[in-house]
Amino acid sequence: MPTSSPTRTVALEIKRQASPEAPAVWESFELEWRPGMNVISAMMEIAANPVTANGRDTTPITYDSNCLEEICGSCAMRINGKARMACSALVDNLEQPIKLEPLSKFPLVRDLQVDRSVLFENLKAVKAWVPIDGTYDLGSGPRVFPQQQEASYPLSNCISCCCCMEVCPQFNEDTGFVGAATIAQVKLFNDHPSGKVLKEERLRALAGDGGFQSGGFAQNCVRIARKQIPLTNAISDISRDVLIQAARDLLRG
Ligand code: SF4
Ligand code: FES
Repeated sequence: MPTSSPTRTVALEIKRQASPEAPAVWESFELEWRPGMNVISAMMEIAANPVTANGRDTTPITYDSNCLEEICGSCAMRINGKARMACSALVDNLEQPIKLEPLSKFPLVRDLQVDRSVLFENLKAVKAWVPIDGTYDLGSGPRVFPQQQEASYPLSNCISCCCCMEVCPQFNEDTGFVGAATIAQVKLFNDHPSGKVLKEERLRALAGDGGFQSGGFAQNCVRIARKQIPLTNAISDISRDVLIQAARDLLRG
């Protein structure tokens, strides 16, 4: 008689915390392996049947996700100790048990969900946009030549996942450093023919508390950044521009 092969399984250990004040606990799960499984699909399976590996009923895991194709940045978490997107983390490529933890540098909401609004506040502080809103038609903007488009396009690939901030030793509550993602967006909008009208304001915002004064350059962000976002160039160009702007402001009195 043919013997059936044992069911292939996936083991996960997930850090749970019911609220920011509640104690953290680890729960283990064992799921049936499926082809193409990723961390988010594993958590969907847990949501459909929230039972731990030792058979105890529990609650579905709380986490953020949206696009499921590494575009929105919302599912960032620590997977086996590394900050990355859960939707593109294929189970077959991960050592088991797969350990899932929330990002550590952001306020915890619950389980794997954190509040990443600091990045969006930083982007507001540096006016990371092209100012085209108004009560009248501003007409078409200046041409952006293909060479400039090609240079700027990689910077526009930032998906606000916050992984570069998670791995940066300078990004912490003491320094208030804005982090590489914000600096990269300053570079993107300062280089834009219409966006550069706010260039001086952006550079002044970075010269204050939490800007470059607070940041060394450990380059961890460069190692983690997705889609070859040129963070090194952005940080060195903008740090130079911040210094030049500060010197100009000093001379102007
Ligand atoms: S620069 Fe890269 S790592 Fe940082 S927020 Fe943007 S996409 Fe994420
Ligand atoms: S769900 Fe959008 S990046 Fe993962």
